[in-house]
Amino acid sequence: MVHFSTSVASLRSSEIRDLMSLANKPNMILFSGGMPDNDLFPLQEVDAIYRRLTAREKQIALQYGPTPGLPQLLDSLSGFLRDKGLPVDTNKLLITTGSLQAINILGHAFIDPGDTILVENPCFIGAISAFRSYQANIVSIPLTPAGIDTEALGRTLDTLEAAPKFLYLTPNFHNPAGTLYHRDTKLRLIELLRDRNIPLIEDDAYSELYFHDEDREHLQTLKSMNPEGLDICYTGSFSKILGPGLRLGWMLVPDEIYRKCELIKQSIDACSPSFTQMIAHKFLESGAYLPYLNRIRAEYKRRAEAMTQLLNAQLPEGCTFTAPRGGFYIWIQLPGGADSTNILKRAIDKGVVFVSGKTFDPHGMRNDRIRLSFCNSSVEKINEGIPLVVESIREELML
Ligand SMILES: Cc1ncc(COP(=O)(O)O)c(C=O)c1O
Repeated sequence: MVHFSTSVASLRSSEIRDLMSLANKPNMILFSGGMPDNDLFPLQEVDAIYRRLTAREKQIALQYGPTPGLPQLLDSLSGFLRDKGLPVDTNKLLITTGSLQAINILGHAFIDPGDTILVENPCFIGAISAFRSYQANIVSIPLTPAGIDTEALGRTLDTLEAAPKFLYLTPNFHNPAGTLYHRDTKLRLIELLRDRNIPLIEDDAYSELYFHDEDREHLQTLKSMNPEGLDICYTGSFSKILGPGLRLGWMLVPDEIYRKCELIKQSIDACSPSFTQMIAHKFLESGAYLPYLNRIRAEYKRRAEAMTQLLNAQLPEGCTFTAPRGGFYIWIQLPGGADSTNILKRAIDKGVVFVSGKTFDPHGMRNDRIRLSFCNSSVEKINEGIPLVVESIREELML
């Protein structure tokens, strides 16, 4: 018998992962993956970037780089973040191997076994797994259509015996809920957390994927509001604005936190890939990201609207959702007692797959919700697949 450490002994393949292996049949319609569509990647732009690299740049790309990131990318990314109003001059930027590594490093930096941390419910599964691996005691706060339930958060903060080590949030186009926090929720959060010595981890993987210019006011990041008396660890990613295969993300954090995180990163992988950092740097520096983002925003908006219209027309009474204003996901609340794993099994039989709700419950219990991704299917596939999802829901609800 192999004796694993206590921190990994409780890690298990999820039921959902096992179910998904059934969903590998050809022609399956996939509303499950949270990844960009292969057909939308900027292939020509990346080809042109590589062809134009000098011999010296190619040597740098193939070599180890500094732990904090290639200086060229730190510079161009600082410009990109400065344009979003982020305080790059008073905080430190660390390039990471995907933003999941940034979240993992922050978990490592703050969590001792048994420490309480706060997250939203539902919550990004990657973050839940990272925090679990450090044996956190995860306390969750419900998410409302306007963002985290600040009343519930206030009550929890007042009643917890030990102060939580941090609060982890995804305020812009939440995964899985699609929620865009209302600006008032962001302001209330700042008020609630001020001077409590509870750092906030602000996960901003999706904010570039907005569908409506008029939402910009709500999209302003908490970090760029520069609140006094609150440490914000801001994380972001190239995964949704260029490609997840680059495995590049970042954290922008106060200097004291940065120094620990840099040491942690050094012990994990020494540096993120120089090769993809060079490509990402040129993508930003050349401005190629601007037309690319416009193109993908328009396409994801088209897909989101197609899915929203079908769901509005076909979902049975009692099923509710908020139309997404950006990002990749629609989150459906089923009527009381419905079990989304049963619905998923029926859907797989019909040739369509999504992710069941309990995957995103930090406590792995609540299963009366489902996540549909519209990012990875054409409008034609959405038109074909949504009636099958709805049929599966109706069968389960015996309607
Ligand atoms: C909310 C959220 N944060 C972070 C990530 C991690 O992305 P990556 O590690 O590819 O940067 C994802 C990926 O889907 C996500 O949905």
